[in-house]
Amino acid sequence: MRPGDVIQTKRDRGVLSPEQIGAFVSAAARLDGSGWEKYHLTALLMAIYLNGMVPDETAALTAAMANSGKRLDLSDLDGPKVDKHSTGGVGDKTSLILGPLAAACGVVVPMMSGRGLGHSGGTLDKLEAIPGFRVNLSEAELRAALRKVGLGMIGQTADVAPADKMLYALRDVTSTVESIPLITASILSKKLSEDISGLVMDVKCGAGAFMKTREQGRALADSIVNVGTANGLRMSAFITTMDVPLGRYVGNGLEVIESIETLKGNGPPDLTDLSVTLAARMVRLAGIAPDDASAEKQVRGALTSGTGLEVLRRCIEQQGGDPGVIDDYARLPSTGAITAVTADRAGYVVSMNAEKVGVAVRLLGGGRDRAEDAIDPAVGVIVRAKPGEHVGTKHVVFEVHHRGGPRVGAALDLLKESFAIGGAPPGSEPLVLEQVT
Ligand code: URA
Repeated sequence: MRPGDVIQTKRDRGVLSPEQIGAFVSAAARLDGSGWEKYHLTALLMAIYLNGMVPDETAALTAAMANSGKRLDLSDLDGPKVDKHSTGGVGDKTSLILGPLAAACGVVVPMMSGRGLGHSGGTLDKLEAIPGFRVNLSEAELRAALRKVGLGMIGQTADVAPADKMLYALRDVTSTVESIPLITASILSKKLSEDISGLVMDVKCGAGAFMKTREQGRALADSIVNVGTANGLRMSAFITTMDVPLGRYVGNGLEVIESIETLKGNGPPDLTDLSVTLAARMVRLAGIAPDDASAEKQVRGALTSGTGLEVLRRCIEQQGGDPGVIDDYARLPSTGAITAVTADRAGYVVSMNAEKVGVAVRLLGGGRDRAEDAIDPAVGVIVRAKPGEHVGTKHVVFEVHHRGGPRVGAALDLLKESFAIGGAPPGSEPLVLEQVT
């Protein structure tokens, strides 16, 4: 099969056959002299980006990408295995909270997460802010963590969905990330490799998300739910807003603190409620609770009793981290310098652009410009005044934790631009906009 013919089919808005999709995916997993080069892969990615895929093509692409590498077999572990995945946002630390809560309720959670991408944060980077924490567990170590703790939080290993690794790297540099079939296949190929029976999706939309509008969010949620269901997963998706940062802490070490505080019952309402809602759906999909109300009761019980916090402590210990961080935040990395960004007049914070806050944290060193860049776990921003809150002149809106350097000025400028003050509080929008199943 000539790569040029496959590209031409999609260029001319045709439907790719499973064989054509299979050839493309095997080439992405291993460029082995079969005639496909990286320029063929990128040309086909762009044709898919421009002309889309029908549901059967997206399902075939997902299955081929999942089968391009190793799929875990966790069938020897007792208990229902359910995971959650977010399409990415700013201050989105729910995985660190809901993983322990769901595990405390009896769900087995093999959570394979990603790193920060662009302005959005990543669970692995947050976990690695905890001294000693290892995200690169072997399969045997993951199995041990799931047996002992009910929760394992790991990165994508080299042999899981290798086609996604190649295609994602090419998409990142060819402006082909924001494609519903490509995102669907990328996310689900990794999730299908975890050997889970259920998946809860948090599809973010708004200024700080890849999907800017609710309609795009709904289309992505529908696509992921349909393809996940066709591949045998019990699926639920929530479409949630990502216009302003979730919670108040943005930056890897700072987000660990806010996650721990939330598991101690002191979290901000938006972060607490979203974490509980998503964890409750995991509990329901796992078949542990018959409906949302009883699932939520169990999850809130794990929060107030402190059993969720204990699962996080054991998870940190099991994965080589310092569990002392739970009781002593001074064990987490911190910067020497804090600068305040203040309101220049009195009034209500009427808007805040999550993407600008995320980019500012990246400029401070909390995110990457290139995949190979190291990040600084200590830097970040605490949002002291969120939309709807009243501030006086010189009231602190952002507390910026930094280490000096040439990019701090640009980060502070961006933060100043990221919010507006007005005379009346803005209308409030619910965090969960819609549910798909
Ligand atoms: N996250 C992924 O894993 N893949 C995408 O394509 C987008 C977000």
